[in-house]
Amino acid sequence: MAESDNYPLGRDIFHSGRLDAQNLLWRLHTGYILHPRIPVTDDMRIAELGTGTKIWLFEATKYLQPSTQLYGFDISDEQFPLKEQCLPNLRFDIMDSFVDPPAALVGRNFRDRDSGTILRHVMQLLKPGGFVQWEEVDITHQVVLGEKAKQFEAGMNKVFGQVSLDYSWVPNLPKRVKQIGFRLIEFQRQQFQNNLMNICTNTHLLALHEILQGLRQSCPSGGILEHEIALHHLLSAERKSITYNWSPTVLLGQTPPKNKSSSASHAKEKTISHRMPEGTLVSLTGE
Ligand SMILES: C[S@@+](CC[C@H](N)C(=O)[O-])C[C@H]1O[C@@H](n2cnc3c(N)ncnc32)[C@H](O)[C@@H]1O
Repeated sequence: MAESDNYPLGRDIFHSGRLDAQNLLWRLHTGYILHPRIPVTDDMRIAELGTGTKIWLFEATKYLQPSTQLYGFDISDEQFPLKEQCLPNLRFDIMDSFVDPPAALVGRNFRDRDSGTILRHVMQLLKPGGFVQWEEVDITHQVVLGEKAKQFEAGMNKVFGQVSLDYSWVPNLPKRVKQIGFRLIEFQRQQFQNNLMNICTNTHLLALHEILQGLRQSCPSGGILEHEIALHHLLSAERKSITYNWSPTVLLGQTPPKNKSSSASHAKEKTISHRMPEGTLVSLTGE
């Protein structure tokens, strides 16, 4: 757990590897980088909020025009790659999505810490007609198979309750998006196909391991050890016979066009808030 910003997951080399594997899982699941309903233009500007290792942006540079301007923002630069390893159209910086964006970015390019705070932040970054693509982990709708896995899930639910990690904002995202003033284009909660369930179980259990480790370190007397032991048992003795999946959730929204002539297809700037808040809503978690 990062001490400075309350992030419940880790940011070391192991955690970065797990995050990159999880990105592959998302890609295999959705099959796209940019949602197919976002019109691709030569002069696009795209920001990823909560960019982590930048893996999504690296992949985006492969499929989008070199003229596309890509920005990665994160509250921490711990997982940023070296600048020299990035193409010139990819820039990154530190920015807290719960705080109003700096005036220089606004409209140019692009428990009250709720998803609405981030959505308002996104709204300020976007020009009229810009898109928000939000890919999120929903752990309030899990697919858990196996008796021991179900027991572990019940234990984890208690732990999250004790430390006030509440995920109910995820299924509420579509409502929130509309309240903030976006047009809701799509909201889908799905389950992984059979061939992806294993990679989700692996990355999810590793993320829970990160979270439990962080919680134990920050509160040694909090009764976390017993859940770590149960997880260790799942990872060793039970691993082949269990499934432990979250539900991949995708939201696509759009800011209202300025006037009639500024329709969706004329929107020049788009922001992607990409799988950020699972772990970014400071009092929440996820992976
Ligand atoms: C689960 S990672 C996702 C990384 C990346 N989007 C991906 O899918 O590979 C969540 C990221 O959000 C960042 N984050 C957490 N709180 C944040 C905040 N308030 N503002 C901006 N970024 C934040 C974390 O530092 C972390 O890198």
